[in-house]
Amino acid sequence: MKPITLILGSSGKTGSRILNKLTQLNYPLRLGSRKTIPAFDWEKPEGWDDVIKGVDQIYISYQPDLAHPNSIHHIQKLIELSKKYNVKRIVLLSGRGEPEAEACEKLVENSGLEWTILRSSWFSQNFSEGMFLGQILERKVIFPKLKSTEPFVDLEDLTDLAVDALVKNVHIGKKYELTGPTLLSFQDAFGQIAKELNETIYFEEIPLDAYIKILGEFGLDQDTIWLIRYLFETVLDGRNETVVSDFEKAMGKKPKAFKDYVKETAKSGVWNLAST
Ligand SMILES: NC(=O)c1ccc[n+]([C@@H]2O[C@H](COP(=O)([O-])OP(=O)(O)OC[C@H]3O[C@@H](n4cnc5c(N)ncnc54)[C@H](OP(=O)(O)O)[C@@H]3O)[C@@H](O)[C@H]2O)c1
Repeated sequence: MKPITLILGSSGKTGSRILNKLTQLNYPLRLGSRKTIPAFDWEKPEGWDDVIKGVDQIYISYQPDLAHPNSIHHIQKLIELSKKYNVKRIVLLSGRGEPEAEACEKLVENSGLEWTILRSSWFSQNFSEGMFLGQILERKVIFPKLKSTEPFVDLEDLTDLAVDALVKNVHIGKKYELTGPTLLSFQDAFGQIAKELNETIYFEEIPLDAYIKILGEFGLDQDTIWLIRYLFETVLDGRNETVVSDFEKAMGKKPKAFKDYVKETAKSGVWNLAST
């Protein structure tokens, strides 16, 4: 009997890939997000029992970010219910360089459940499925001034490892730092995309405070604004400017380079102006 896997964030960037990969392996699934039935909402723990009862393992993609002050209480509650309903294994997606996320990791590590932690760098797919797509389609990027570089991670790699951790025992009790193979500034990342498209993407750096002010004027909610400030001010202060080999050690293959992600993604047409 294959274990029943609950995917939290099942329609998101990592969750949807894990859903596809486990479906191909014929693993039984339960999906968890605010739109599933039963619904799973991190802000409504009173509804969690129905989602967790009867599953054997859980992939956790937290919202908005494990660095959020509420996350520790939510992860604690999720672990309590997991134990109550005999969940055996948790695979937690975490963020690299986030002390608050590490406090959540500790809860999972000390839970008594089987666990694997994937502590990830920024996703390459933020440029094609996430927060940077709109600006690329406008061919105009206004960005906070940064000194640091980032080892962007491809989500096919991350979710290959997440699925491996859900279907095999070799990753139990392991915490992996996930990076891509190269460090890149955000400006260079946008530059690689422009070069591949053979088009100009206007790029301007402004102070973080001015950037945050613009987000406020666009009507972004306070939680999102808080998170963006935290990511640019804290996580991107240079602390993550290293490339590590955990992915290769865990999966026996090299992580995908950002330039290969760019080539493949450009072919998909997602950055073409006609797709707006
Ligand atoms: N983006 C990065 O570069 C990066 C890097 C490292 C770690 N991470 C971590 O990855 C996780 C996912 O972030 P993401 O931005 O990439 O999002 P995402 O997984 O692409 O999308 C969000 C998912 O969460 C669900 N969701 C949203 N609000 C929810 C809520 N209140 N309760 C329950 N489900 C909710 C959404 O479905 P519904 O709308 O149906 O609820 C969707 O399935 C976060 O914990 C983040 O810290 C991200």
